[in-house]
Amino acid sequence: MHLLGRRRSSPPANVHSASCPCNTSAAGESFSDAILYHGSSMATYLITGVAGFIGSTLARALLAQGGEVRGFDNFSTGKRENLADILDRIELHEADLLDLDALHQACRAVDYVLHEAAIPSVPRSVKDPLGNNRANVDGTLNLLVASRDAKVKRVIYAASSSAYGDTPTLPKREDMQPNPISPYATAKLASEYYMASFYRCYGLETVSLRYFNVFGPRQDPASPYSGVLAKFITQMLQGEPPTIFGDGKQSRDFTYVDNVVEANLLACKAEGKEVAGRVLNVATGQRMDLYQTFQILKRLIGYSGEVKYGAERAGDVKHSLADISRAEQYLGYKPKVDFEEGLGRTIAWYRNRELQPQLSNPNARARGDSC
Ligand code: UD1
Repeated sequence: MHLLGRRRSSPPANVHSASCPCNTSAAGESFSDAILYHGSSMATYLITGVAGFIGSTLARALLAQGGEVRGFDNFSTGKRENLADILDRIELHEADLLDLDALHQACRAVDYVLHEAAIPSVPRSVKDPLGNNRANVDGTLNLLVASRDAKVKRVIYAASSSAYGDTPTLPKREDMQPNPISPYATAKLASEYYMASFYRCYGLETVSLRYFNVFGPRQDPASPYSGVLAKFITQMLQGEPPTIFGDGKQSRDFTYVDNVVEANLLACKAEGKEVAGRVLNVATGQRMDLYQTFQILKRLIGYSGEVKYGAERAGDVKHSLADISRAEQYLGYKPKVDFEEGLGRTIAWYRNRELQPQLSNPNARARGDSC
């Protein structure tokens, strides 16, 4: 295990309220501008998967509200460049979730654990079900054991809407029978059950947030397992046709990353008796099919090319839409950034990144040069 970065010793000067205009960068990026400042919080947070696009966005938000941030990542899918601007303000534990000693060390004196680390891909889990289980189940169980032993206040888990599977009923409600249809979905659901059981058996407060198709700045577009929006946006910005797997009628409740960050902050603040042991959907409550999404991106990007079609993916869910009333009831959660606004911000971020060759050069990334 390697310990990198520095622990911040005093609160950052740049604590902004949601209405502060200086929060928006030239790239239209908004890792904190849509996130409310929830009041002074000197709590210590451990973010697993801190180098991923969700984990690193969470880290920025927590730093902005005065939190102490510790990160945990094995950099298997996370990127050092995602942390480049905050590395000197967080304590980074470079280790694997299968390393229980490293987790015990990372959890020491932590108040809240935000568990974002995962291998987040349905097709990758179909190809490698054992690796999927190690990362997405064994890793979670280790983290729960370490969190219990360290007596952390609460663990918030990045659960997945894939747990609902292909049941025809829409929208998906948390009281519906889960029906996972891929190894990935099965693993994410198993980890949810572990979360709830640690609350029941050991009194460790846990909250599982079922994310619905999260997208936004810093999502990796370069892997064959990348999320569809990161791929489509970067392909279309480069003038290349994206590929729709299947007929394009599959739909998703695409959720901009700031909404997910907001839900995590609310889940930390909520009363334990209200939220502990619960599963809550985190989404926008609206869905868009893939062909419509392509049309919107065409307009926003100014792309004049066509789209290609490929075979439907094994393990793919056809439609996904969340009922978000429970998150509203228990967390006071309301999505602040809608789909099109989120797409605009994401496109602006990738556009800006293309203008900075050291960020878009995969060789530089692999060497970690940008840190
Ligand atoms: C996504 C997440 C997963 C999360 C789940 C539920 C990613 C990589 N996966 O899975 O972690 O738990 O939502 O929230 O973010 N597609 C194409 N062309 C492409 C790529 C994808 O047509 O180039 C299609 C897929 O076949 C699928 C849809 O787009 O029908 C969405 O795929 P993807 O972005 O990989 O997400 P999910 O599989 O829904």
